[in-house]
Amino acid sequence: MQQYLEVAIDAAREAGGLQRQRLWLEHDIVFKGATDLVTEVDRMCDSLITERISRSFPDHDILAEESGHQAQQSAYKWIIDPLDGTTNYAHGFPWFCVSIALEIEGTVGMGVIYHPMMDELFTVIQGEGAFLNGSRISVSGRGPIRNTLLATGFPYDRTRENENNFENFVNFHMEARGIRRAGAAALDLAYVAAGRLDGYWECKLKPWDVAAGQLLVKEAGGEVTGYSGETYSIYNHRIVASNSIIHEEMLAVLGRNILPG
Ligand code: IPD
Ligand code: CA
Ligand code: CA
Repeated sequence: MQQYLEVAIDAAREAGGLQRQRLWLEHDIVFKGATDLVTEVDRMCDSLITERISRSFPDHDILAEESGHQAQQSAYKWIIDPLDGTTNYAHGFPWFCVSIALEIEGTVGMGVIYHPMMDELFTVIQGEGAFLNGSRISVSGRGPIRNTLLATGFPYDRTRENENNFENFVNFHMEARGIRRAGAAALDLAYVAAGRLDGYWECKLKPWDVAAGQLLVKEAGGEVTGYSGETYSIYNHRIVASNSIIHEEMLAVLGRNILPG
């Protein structure tokens, strides 16, 4: 696993360096949807990371947000968000990261999240714990929910679809000390793992948003499920991640407003 981790770290640091260098330059922006955009840096980082991985492990599958699925029928699948927090990035708001995970026979076994503006590298290997810049991290000991800081996000189709997370946001805001919508799902999860946030929920995420982060939370002693407490898979579209102390309370808040689907 160590050899995979090293390649992921090198690729994440290189892509993050590029993001840092180009942040406040003018960007070439293309719209994937009304509010869902992509910059030239998302694409450059996608190529950089996928090329590095396929050079090192030519037989492995790769699923990357901007370049799609390179299927080789391998038991190993790299899952990559080359730039999580693109809306922030396009606006020069310095809160974004690189997320790289490796799924082996359907289970995420390794993950890396790199936050270039803070030079913070989160790493995790299943069964070996979660780390930030080489030091072990663990979830917070905070609870009940009224003493906690939570995070969430809203889907790109929020103006057109019923499941827009608005009602859950209001319900949680009545319960928690505070809620942040910082704009990078992978970092929200890494922050739960590091005990800087106590809980996080979101819907309509993609595997690359969550693959590395959900393993960080679990390995840091937290809990990750679907909205009804069901076993979580990165292919589910609803996630709740917490320090485990407030997990039941979070599920109860979400339970007031479970939509079909
Ligand atoms: C987005 C961010 C955001 C979340 C969105 C994601 P992107 O990823 O993680 O925090 O709320 O749903 O799609 O598009 O910046 O990679
Ligand atoms: Ca993302
Ligand atoms: Ca992205």
